[in-house]
Amino acid sequence: MRELSEAGQTSSQEQQEALRGQDLVKRFGAVTALEGVSLTLRRGEILGILGDNGAGKSTLMKILTGYHQQNSGTLYIDGQQILLRSVDHARSLGIECVYQDLALANSLSIYHNMFLNREIVYPGPIRLLNNRAMRARAAELLEEIGVQVPSVDLPVEQLSGGQRQAIAVARAINSNARILLLDEPLAAMGAREAGLIIDLILRLKEKGNLSIAMIMHNYAQTLDIADRVILMQRGRVTYQQDTANTSVTELMEIVRREYRAMRSA
Ligand SMILES: Nc1ncnc2c1ncn2[C@@H]1O[C@H](COP(=O)(O)OP(=O)(O)OP(=O)(O)O)[C@@H](O)[C@H]1O
Ligand SMILES: [Mg+2]
Repeated sequence: MRELSEAGQTSSQEQQEALRGQDLVKRFGAVTALEGVSLTLRRGEILGILGDNGAGKSTLMKILTGYHQQNSGTLYIDGQQILLRSVDHARSLGIECVYQDLALANSLSIYHNMFLNREIVYPGPIRLLNNRAMRARAAELLEEIGVQVPSVDLPVEQLSGGQRQAIAVARAINSNARILLLDEPLAAMGAREAGLIIDLILRLKEKGNLSIAMIMHNYAQTLDIADRVILMQRGRVTYQQDTANTSVTELMEIVRREYRAMRSA
């Protein structure tokens, strides 16, 4: 009887989770970047990931996107155990990532960037780009998600940092992504540009069926946008909470305690 109800609970948990990592460990030579990290990204939620420089946030994200492989620990997608072999493999499963350095081709047009490495070509033996289709689809998608640019013909280098970030996010979701991982999408951005990205992320969330994990620096912004927050310190998740049940003061107090402990050690 008890076994039955426990099994029932597990499956409803699995229905809720998009992505889960269990006891993830990652070493780079002598450095242990992740010391056994467990986290869950639920369906349809925005998860904020906070933590100091070097805490292991980007390393975690790179494992979740198949860029790095963990030394030990397990990943689950929709409750199914999976070994991510590469970024392409993760992508084929609906996991898309926007890295901090974006990897846009600055001299190419917006629409070419949106179809970089997944160009639309004419059928036939010669690989001939269907610019017309890509151009139309790019404009349509940007319109759909509310990103305003003067023209999709503009080279990316003529855009602001915020617009560029928006193009990178648009590209990531232009592939039926169900899981979107963002590494500091608001880094080095002014209030207006950050606002553009925040609005875009919230609109994506409202459209449903997309789960988003984002590494953030600003506590207040994180509590504004995210449904849940996790805090990473020295390769571990040391705190997690619904954003409704925490505050900037509480998060800062946890980090301050760590500083004090380090100083007195
Ligand atoms: N490719 C690598 N080779 C060797 N060490 C690495 C590599 N990537 C990360 N590390 C180390 O792993 C630790 C965690 O780095 P990571 O980039 O994950 O931190 P982070 O939390 O993203 O920091 P930041 O806020 O500065 O971006 C650091 O000590 C870093 O030097
Ligand atoms: Mg980082």
